[in-house]
Amino acid sequence: MASEYRISHDSGGESEDLRVERQLMDLVTGYRRSQVLYAAAKLGIADALAKGIETSDNLAEALEAHPLTMFRLLRALSSLGIVAQCPNGAFALTRLGEGLKTGAPGMVRSRAIMNCEEDYQAWGNILYTMKTGRPGFEKAYGKGYWEYLAEDSDMPTIFSDSMFGSAPERYELVAQAYDFSQVGSVADIGGGYGGLTISILRANPHLKGLIYDQPAVTSGTQIRINDAGLSDRCKVVSGSFFESVPSGADVYILSRVLPDWTDDKAAVILQNIREAMHSKSRLLVVARLIPPDDTPSPGKMKDLYLLIVVGGQERTEEEYSRLLSINGFKIANIHPGDTEQRIIEAVPS
Ligand SMILES: C[S@@+](CC[C@H](N)C(=O)[O-])C[C@H]1O[C@@H](n2cnc3c(N)ncnc32)[C@H](O)[C@@H]1O
Repeated sequence: MASEYRISHDSGGESEDLRVERQLMDLVTGYRRSQVLYAAAKLGIADALAKGIETSDNLAEALEAHPLTMFRLLRALSSLGIVAQCPNGAFALTRLGEGLKTGAPGMVRSRAIMNCEEDYQAWGNILYTMKTGRPGFEKAYGKGYWEYLAEDSDMPTIFSDSMFGSAPERYELVAQAYDFSQVGSVADIGGGYGGLTISILRANPHLKGLIYDQPAVTSGTQIRINDAGLSDRCKVVSGSFFESVPSGADVYILSRVLPDWTDDKAAVILQNIREAMHSKSRLLVVARLIPPDDTPSPGKMKDLYLLIVVGGQERTEEEYSRLLSINGFKIANIHPGDTEQRIIEAVPS
């Protein structure tokens, strides 16, 4: 292959062809980096280094790994900037590597594990998705993502933990971006562990909240609401938004929920919310809007993740507008939200 590339002799530098080949191969082999980070996350290397276990032999012993292979993994992690190899041969966490510790902001350790366990199996079936339009996850596990999540004892916790931890700053930004001063109550539908509601209630002491999610999630939600000292102002209710939604809130919130579902499933959620609303209720949809044109956007890759793993989709503003309008809503406003997501404010049409 390499012999097909022309080598530039003019400045002794790398030819454009070689640079492009490297760039392409970097994309092609992206999974290797994911797997190296997965091994580090699953074994708990960052936690062990933070505890002062610093040589590869000691790490191998503490984490029950093969000693020479541990050294080779650490060396690879050092080339990715996750650890640094000290002159005495010991290893230390870098600023980047600190993010892999359990409970570090963003919960990247949990996400790195999910990324290479269930998600990875689903992505391995991308050609099934390409031929059928169905999630690769179903082919790998014989059932849909949410069904799997509801039946697996650990996954709901890992998932909701990663959702809760992945976005504290984002929740704050969303809580600040909408004026709740004239609102008495909010209902966070599919609210997970309640990170967004906690931010909103803290910023608005007059507000009452309700978090609605699946039974496998809500016991964890209740703990976080208690820990936040908000149990007198916030109810946690278990149920399925495909069956019904608690009625009568002034503001309904769907944060990062609609992208998990195809239009027909999203329609059921929206119709159940529409039924639960009173005439002055509003709906806030927190979601990423993908640009309709060629503008690069993380949402374009996330859209494929949503299809292959979860069975959902990202949408453009126009697609949200259409989805909302056929289900009894019209867009009243679009607020900035956080760095990636917007708040679509919709009212009954
Ligand atoms: C991507 S998470 C978003 C969580 C939260 N709203 C946030 O922004 O962090 C989607 C949430 O929908 C919940 N969910 C999925 N199916 C549900 C159902 N049938 N009824 C209620 N909630 C459901 C999940 O448990 C999960 O907490």
